[in-house]
Amino acid sequence: MSRWEAMGRADAIAEGDIVRYECGGKVIAIARRHGECFAFDDTCTHAEFSLADGMLEGYEIECCAHGARFDIRTGGVTQLPATAPVKTYAVKEEGATLYVDLDC
Ligand code: FES
Repeated sequence: MSRWEAMGRADAIAEGDIVRYECGGKVIAIARRHGECFAFDDTCTHAEFSLADGMLEGYEIECCAHGARFDIRTGGVTQLPATAPVKTYAVKEEGATLYVDLDC
């Protein structure tokens, strides 16, 4: 089942940016890479820092606290110290609006 929620204007996220959103009781980070948006839980699975404060390099987000890295396409860990993946969410852009499926 899908639960698409409007997050705001799609052009609010420029190429290479990471923006934090609170919606439906969740805190989500959305990053734009090569024109496409990727959504994932904002909280690092290592020690709960915000991933939106991290650095985007290619398709990897690096947590600013201790350097764990995650693939923003899958949520998979690509560098320790985190060992658990972050949850990812489907994203779509319709017109000027960005939507995230909070149930996927
Ligand atoms: S809190 Fe993210 S690497 Fe430690």
